[in-house]
Amino acid sequence: MENAEPRVLAKKPMGLVLLGSTGSIGKSTLDVVRSLGPETVRVTGLAAGTKWEILAEQARAHRPSRVSIADGEPYVRLREALRDLPRIEILKGEEGQRQMVAAPDCDAVLAAVTGAAGLPAVVEAARCGKRLCLSNKESLVVAGPIVWKLARENGSELLPVDSEHSAIFQCLRSGSPSRGLGFPREDLKRIILTASGGPFRQWPNERMERASVEDALAHPTWKMGPNITIDSATLMNKALEVIEAHWLFSAPPERIDVICHPQSIVHSMVEFVDGSVVAQLGVPDMRVPIQYALTFPERRDLEVAPFDLAKIGSLTFEAVDRERFPAIDLAYTVLARGGAGGAVLNAANEVARAAFLERAIGFREITRTNARVLSRYYDGRGPRISERPTLDEVLEADRWAREEARSCSKQPS
Ligand SMILES: NC(=O)c1ccc[n+]([C@@H]2O[C@H](COP(=O)([O-])OP(=O)(O)OC[C@H]3O[C@@H](n4cnc5c(N)ncnc54)[C@H](OP(=O)(O)O)[C@@H]3O)[C@@H](O)[C@H]2O)c1
Repeated sequence: MENAEPRVLAKKPMGLVLLGSTGSIGKSTLDVVRSLGPETVRVTGLAAGTKWEILAEQARAHRPSRVSIADGEPYVRLREALRDLPRIEILKGEEGQRQMVAAPDCDAVLAAVTGAAGLPAVVEAARCGKRLCLSNKESLVVAGPIVWKLARENGSELLPVDSEHSAIFQCLRSGSPSRGLGFPREDLKRIILTASGGPFRQWPNERMERASVEDALAHPTWKMGPNITIDSATLMNKALEVIEAHWLFSAPPERIDVICHPQSIVHSMVEFVDGSVVAQLGVPDMRVPIQYALTFPERRDLEVAPFDLAKIGSLTFEAVDRERFPAIDLAYTVLARGGAGGAVLNAANEVARAAFLERAIGFREITRTNARVLSRYYDGRGPRISERPTLDEVLEADRWAREEARSCSKQPS
């Protein structure tokens, strides 16, 4: 990662647009904003999908310049709910998000919409040169080179919010702060992403075949939104993170490893060529990487649970069982074969995961569907896409993969 020299936070509060404010990361971000105080961050925009009641409450508390929500019923209800606050502009849909990101009072965007739906606003933030605090890993999986190039050309600082990538970012800075934040760097050997292993880490295949939605939603260490929780159970989340690490840190696939660490205390590590390994540790609390992305390069106070290694007792590590969790291999296939594979894998997963959550398919069928759709794409049965896909091409691949996954998982569209 060749980030520009960090901009020290200006004296005036940073104008923040929060996309996905009604979700798990969105709510944690607003906790952080409250704890930082109005002299540090001012919320200028809030965007959500459909939860207009929560968005209205957030707008009352934070008084942003703009809010945006899905067109139709949520938009109508939100307008009604905020009728007594005429200074808040009420926007809708993708265009609304783009407008609030492009507005001059927005300095930074925290992108926490779930899935490929988050991509258009992320592209806009990069195009407008805003600080981009990226929780929506899917936008890098779907269109990594496009987002990366726009960010570089327009001076947008790309700061990871995912705890693993925030950890790597911090390890790279502390390991040798004067060097670039990623490959190629002659002192860097590899990136080691940690994975909790999810609720099925020790379940045999036959038991996983019968896993219920409730079983899959019972994550042992992190409290997250339902989609990423299912992705953590299949380890698809880790697969997406391998691709995210590749784009964020320009890391060749063979320099990215994944290791299982059930306690989720070591958030990730970097190994240097002299055998030194730098790790970042902390209690599992997403407010920590969120705040670091907002206040970077500074660190501020944050009230988190005490870090008590004696109480934790032991930190354990084990290899990921790739036979029981084949999702990880799909990430390496995408990195080896390129094209719009990231968009295809992510789109197939969004459809298959939704089918599982609706109890239309079994748990292990999620990864099987993803593998089938990806292999059809690389067999040449998908749309013709150039080596370096444009935004239109990745969106076309995304549409094709959704259709294909629907037919694979026998989902009604
Ligand atoms: N949760 C975590 O701990 C965690 C950790 C690392 C990374 N992430 C990443 O952060 C992102 C958000 O995760 P989450 O767990 O916070 O998800 P979540 O709880 O499901 O929240 C998703 C948010 O996105 C909004 N949204 C969904 N579709 C939208 C659309 N088409 N337009 C506008 N807004 C839309 C939702 O709005 P409504 O609910 O109002 O419909 C909600 O505010 C994901 O990319 C995830 O991979 C999450």
